[in-house]
Amino acid sequence: MRVMPNDLDAYWMPFTANRQFKQAPRMLVSAKGMYYRSDDDRPILDGTSGLWCVNAGHGRLEIAEAVKAQLARLDYAPSFQMGHPIAFEAAAKLRQILPEELSHVFFANSGSESVDSALKIALAYHQLRGEGRRTRLIGRERGYHGVGFGGISVGGLASNRRQFALLPNVDHLPHTHDLERNAFSRGLPAWGGHLADDLERLVALHDPSTIAAVIVEPMAGSAGVLLPPKGYLERLRAICSKYGILLIFDEVITGFGRLGGHAFAAEKFGVKPDMITMAKGLTNGTIPMGAVATSDDIYRTFMDQKDNPAAIELAHGYTYSGHPVACAAAIATIDAYQREKLFERAETMAPAFEKAAHGLRDAPHVIDIRNMGLVTGIELAPRSGQPGARAYETFVHCFENGTLIRVTGDIIALSPPLIISESQIDDLFGAVRAALNTVA
Ligand SMILES: Cc1ncc(COP(=O)(O)O)c(C=O)c1O
Repeated sequence: MRVMPNDLDAYWMPFTANRQFKQAPRMLVSAKGMYYRSDDDRPILDGTSGLWCVNAGHGRLEIAEAVKAQLARLDYAPSFQMGHPIAFEAAAKLRQILPEELSHVFFANSGSESVDSALKIALAYHQLRGEGRRTRLIGRERGYHGVGFGGISVGGLASNRRQFALLPNVDHLPHTHDLERNAFSRGLPAWGGHLADDLERLVALHDPSTIAAVIVEPMAGSAGVLLPPKGYLERLRAICSKYGILLIFDEVITGFGRLGGHAFAAEKFGVKPDMITMAKGLTNGTIPMGAVATSDDIYRTFMDQKDNPAAIELAHGYTYSGHPVACAAAIATIDAYQREKLFERAETMAPAFEKAAHGLRDAPHVIDIRNMGLVTGIELAPRSGQPGARAYETFVHCFENGTLIRVTGDIIALSPPLIISESQIDDLFGAVRAALNTVA
């Protein structure tokens, strides 16, 4: 039975073609394991972990129980000049899976807030060290860092910037996507490590004494699954260290096992950033929450100020920073990741996922497939004069036939929950092939 809201008008939907959607709505009403259910009661295989966040699969009762118990015990408590134990517990729990050198956690409520928090921490850090001229932030073309003013300014997706005003003092590295050289790569593309050297150019242009931080996604997710070329992140790290620039990895998508084998891409790639931003998989998508993990050096710079021990070290925070209910969800989620060894599982399933993804190489319209862990980008040739239309129609076809995929421009991005089975992998890629066979 279709359970339709009687008025679609009141809700202004985010990142949605509202007028088009409201003509032909697609509604999800429940979820369990690998499947959503639509309002007309069809199972929908989740090929995208919701929006890259439900890494442990849907409907986890242990998370629901933890949330329920916390709501009954302490629904809300302020975090400004007050504390509640579960926020400290959640930070300590997260520390168990963070890279060792990132040992302090600042809580926010989303990826966007985490990014803005990290950028502000970077500026304040340099100021405290007497390098207050370091106010410039470096992002990357095709980067996505959420929708705050900081995030869209360092971000490199033109469509997310053009309606708004941006922060000054921002510059961008070139993106790393090169189909001519790297098409159909498995894992890290071979060509392009030297693109990190462009940071030397920006340093020469602006002078290192003006640059506070470089922020990149270790793997650009929202721009369509762009993996870092071999050696690229190492070179970025080396150049940042050489000039005293902080390196921030935005792991809102890559965090919590997406790339397989490790909780974070920083560990997977063996590169140590000064901060990691995260959200999404932190609570398995159940309760909004984000976090910034910082190095001990950054934390100590704030805490070791000599002048006024009663001063607030960082004039920043949110009403819901360390929200008790979100903390309960985070602890239960990380428990599930650890108990079921889901990051290792993602690594174990990765070869089957890679094989199935690259099996689409001969499907109509496909011009590239790239992958790592349990994520793949399948790039389609755009239909002449209608960029994005072919991928959008593929998405609609998949949904109507029981599979949720995500498309961005003409790229299909698949990132299923880490609990996916081999037969579900076959179903997922089978659905994409069937759709590609159908769309013009
Ligand atoms: C890398 C990255 N950073 C930040 C964000 C923003 O997160 P949120 O939508 O929770 O604000 C996203 C969301 O997709 C993301 O992929």
